[in-house]
Amino acid sequence: MRVGVLTGGGDCPGLNAVIRAVTKSLIHHGQCEVIGIEDGFAGLMHEQPRVRPLTWRDVSGILHTGGTLLGTSNSANPLRDEATTQLVARNVAAQGLDVLVVIGGDGTMSLAHGLHQRIGLPCVGVPKTIDNDIAFCERSFGFDTAVATATEGLRRMDSTAFSHHRVMIVETMGRHAGWIALESGLAAGADIILLPEIDFRLESVIERCRQRENDQRYTVICMGEGAKERGTDLTVRQVVQGSPDPVRLGGVAHVLRERLQPHLESEVRATVLGHLQRGGDPTPFDRVLATRFGHHAAQLLLQGIHGRMVTLQCGAITSVPMSDVAHVQRTIPLDDALLVTARDIGVCLGE
Ligand code: F6P
Repeated sequence: MRVGVLTGGGDCPGLNAVIRAVTKSLIHHGQCEVIGIEDGFAGLMHEQPRVRPLTWRDVSGILHTGGTLLGTSNSANPLRDEATTQLVARNVAAQGLDVLVVIGGDGTMSLAHGLHQRIGLPCVGVPKTIDNDIAFCERSFGFDTAVATATEGLRRMDSTAFSHHRVMIVETMGRHAGWIALESGLAAGADIILLPEIDFRLESVIERCRQRENDQRYTVICMGEGAKERGTDLTVRQVVQGSPDPVRLGGVAHVLRERLQPHLESEVRATVLGHLQRGGDPTPFDRVLATRFGHHAAQLLLQGIHGRMVTLQCGAITSVPMSDVAHVQRTIPLDDALLVTARDIGVCLGE
């Protein structure tokens, strides 16, 4: 069996651990060749496809490293027109690929599902995102690392907020899901946590900051990039034309800073943590989860099972149909236990 492996969408700590586990499991089993496809689906969208065999040695020593050794792309769309789809089909046939392992987010899963429908290419999916927002997956690898980085950023802001008696707003990634903001905010002891799932009232944020001005004299606000004030629109940094995932959020912390400053005596400052949260070495938890995912993907292939995405449910590795995952996001349910905990320990959620 010749198995193609690609990583699509934004990079994420743990991608190399998945590539390593898929490759080693298939080579260890025997009778399998693994072909790495460069830059996600883009590698199959050239007349000369960008592919290379992956050997045991190629994937050794990469378990702990960030990024993806194959490269990635979040703008390559193999379904963008008929000619592109047919080019991909020819490249897959010329390379003798029997099946693809696609490691990516919901956008990559829907492209893989579409390719299967259009050209009959069997795929197995492995969910990846720091945002932890993939449907039917209670934990994606990369999330633990992003939360650790965001938590450290918040703690660093805490000491400078304390020293200068400031209000510090820290913006985390996560798109329309607030998981990174909620977990890092709780882990860092943020005073206010603002999430995309709960449109905040400016008055309630002002009120909490004023209380603290008279008491502790500093405030740390953790804010997901998709958070917004009640009755306003999302803050969008840019729209990338032609991308299957065109909207890039970011900058809402600066908007909130301008809205808050006139109402407070303390200086208000904003920091966007940005891609710091996506880079760097995966935590041990993410290395193990990514290895379990990659190993399970290889086992599905060896059993001839396709069209499914590996996932984590109730702590166990299993799989779900890729079609169920495409275009669905897992945001924080309003009755989530962590939200209840946050409220009960006095964190302001801007309600
Ligand atoms: O989905 C992962 C993520 O890091 C989001 O949290 C963020 O909004 C987005 O990707 C940023 O994408 P890009 O690197 O293309 O700007």
